[in-house]
Amino acid sequence: MSARIISGTETAKQISEELKNEVAELKATRNIVPGLATVIVGCDGPSLTYVGNKVTMCEKLNMRPERHDLPADISEKELLALIACLNADPAVHGLLVQLPLPKHICETRVLMAISPLKDVDGLHPVNVGKVMIGEDGFLPCTPAGIHELLLRAEVAMEGAEVVVVGRSNIVGKPLASLLMQKRPGANATVTICHSQTRDLKQHTLRADVLIAAIGRPRCITADMVREGTVVIDVGTNEVGKTAEGKRILVGDVDFEAVKEKAAVITPVPGGVGPMTIIMLMKNTLKAAKLALGA
Ligand code: GUN
Repeated sequence: MSARIISGTETAKQISEELKNEVAELKATRNIVPGLATVIVGCDGPSLTYVGNKVTMCEKLNMRPERHDLPADISEKELLALIACLNADPAVHGLLVQLPLPKHICETRVLMAISPLKDVDGLHPVNVGKVMIGEDGFLPCTPAGIHELLLRAEVAMEGAEVVVVGRSNIVGKPLASLLMQKRPGANATVTICHSQTRDLKQHTLRADVLIAAIGRPRCITADMVREGTVVIDVGTNEVGKTAEGKRILVGDVDFEAVKEKAAVITPVPGGVGPMTIIMLMKNTLKAAKLALGA
């Protein structure tokens, strides 16, 4: 039997309606418009697309985007000075620096310079630590989006065997921390696999919920998935361009074959991707309320 396909696009649309209402209420009751500052250094193609999508989504939800496009050769000192200004600006509630950064800039120093109260990407060590100990902070957007998708799709997570393939700071590690917390849509037994895992298939075959965040096209094949598994595909790999020059994206999962075994599966595009961006908006609204002490 073919899997139930959970649409991130549809779920994100529902959440965007909820957020629009909350934004309108904040404006009506406190005269505050959530502001999101995005900083991009250089002109890496995918990064420009991602930041463009974030700005457009802000506008759709009646939030205020503030875009800072900096030259690739800007010094780390100048970048840190801009971050200090944005940290101090009361009209900026959320602040994110798009990654990757050019090699001459230290990513850790930059992420640590962002105020943890404006760190809507959840990448500051304070927020990373808060996920670990189950304290309220900013969750990174992709793990938060996956959690929300699992919750709204009513996937049974308590005590489930979750296998996360990928150990990045932005997805794998925070997602594992989140899904092992004692909270709804979590409380699972989590295994993280990575490039040095000896027998990946042995782990993936045990999964009730399999989350692929590897960054390699169609790496999870049907023989690695047990019948009835919930499969979440975090990958967005460009495998070519259409005749019109549009990027062709595929996930980390061999969707066509795996959907015949899985109980539930997310597509690429239209799965985790739209959830990530809507969680950024949710975090920005949360930052605006936090600034009010609400
Ligand atoms: N580069 C790729 N994904 C992300 C993200 O979620 N946040 C930031 N800041 N940079 C990224």
